[in-house]
Amino acid sequence: MRKIVGIYASPREDGNSRVICDAVLDGAMGLSTNMIEVFHLNKLNAARGCQNCERCKDLGRCVLMDDISLVLESIRDADSLVVSIPVFFGHAAAQYRILEDRMYSFLDRGLSSTIPSGKKVAIVVTYDRNDGSAASVMNDLSEFYRHLGFEIVGNILYCCYGRRDTASTDNEVLSLGRSVGHRL
Ligand SMILES: Cc1cc2nc3c(=O)[nH]c(=O)nc-3n(C[C@H](O)[C@H](O)[C@H](O)COP(=O)(O)O)c2cc1C
Repeated sequence: MRKIVGIYASPREDGNSRVICDAVLDGAMGLSTNMIEVFHLNKLNAARGCQNCERCKDLGRCVLMDDISLVLESIRDADSLVVSIPVFFGHAAAQYRILEDRMYSFLDRGLSSTIPSGKKVAIVVTYDRNDGSAASVMNDLSEFYRHLGFEIVGNILYCCYGRRDTASTDNEVLSLGRSVGHRL
């Protein structure tokens, strides 16, 4: 049984990034009895940013004990990951940025990854405006996960054109999501 972790960063529970992430997880479940664990970053009560204390370089894990610690441990144990993130003001939404900074604890002093290799990741980025910032967010996320040793099995960059529910009726992106999920 493979463990697949889904990470929703949008504050909107029925948002476009959530719907696409669910399609990916659906695809992942279609093939086998994979175990799925999901985290709604917006619902975490205690989520502190990286303190740059460097204790993780001695301990091999983040010293902070909050809800983000649970997400970090789950990612460390996972076989595959789906991250689904809206673009806010040209960047990944803050709910996700806190988690990403805390993944500093996955790096050693030389900034090499300390988490087991061979994990897979699917990355979903949703946005409204074609000004290039979403592509840049996707590019940065891809670089980051590659650096951590993940194999990227799918990048879904989805423009919502200002519609809050467009993904739920877009069969093309839902089917793409399921096919990416099959690769996890
Ligand atoms: C605070 C805020 C800032 C945003 N900034 C951008 C932006 O810079 N570029 C963009 O293309 N879309 C931007 N958007 C639109 C969202 O990225 C888009 O609606 C996305 O689909 C939301 O994801 P969701 O439906 O999963 O909640 C912004 C939305 C909000 C609420």
